[in-house]
Amino acid sequence: MVKKKTCVFISGQGSNLKNLIYRSRDNSFPIKISLVVSNNRKAKGINYAKKYKIPFILINTKNRNYEFKILKELKKFQIEFICLAGYMKIISNKIVSKFEKKIINIHPSLLPKFKGLNTFERALKNKEKKTGCTVHYVNKKLDDGSIILKKMFYLKLKDDEVTLKQKTQKLEYRAYPEAIVKIFRNI
Ligand code: GRF
Repeated sequence: MVKKKTCVFISGQGSNLKNLIYRSRDNSFPIKISLVVSNNRKAKGINYAKKYKIPFILINTKNRNYEFKILKELKKFQIEFICLAGYMKIISNKIVSKFEKKIINIHPSLLPKFKGLNTFERALKNKEKKTGCTVHYVNKKLDDGSIILKKMFYLKLKDDEVTLKQKTQKLEYRAYPEAIVKIFRNI
């Protein structure tokens, strides 16, 4: 199997990056992580790129034309597929239009509910019975592209933002790899 050369975009902890790196070491997993992009030089996730000797680039989104720098690097590393994993910046049309249906994101709610930030706080406030995570394609709008898969769990009375985050992330580590397998199985 020829693995798709993939870039993971991060801004923080990088636990989904770590999980994808582990999964992609499996011969039958359809992607290889060839590049990591971070818009935050202090992102802990960069350490996983270093540890597993994956090239990474730091970008400063305050620079005009920073997207051209990203596009240049994506080209240099022959990137065919992009996974957003806690990347806290909207991907502009400059990149989306060049990678149509080739960028996916994982979001910590059952989309279309709770797009954007503070999903756990909002789920609790709204007295949701269930929550979870969604893997979806990225389009020009925030958390809006077509859905690849969702995973859910039921809230318990004692759940708070901390437990919801823990439970959601645990599901994410299954959902993201599963979604990737699903995409490439269908191609
Ligand atoms: C994840 O919960 C994901 O749903 C959201 O950002 C978080 C990133 O966590 N988009 P990590 O950096 O992968 O640990």
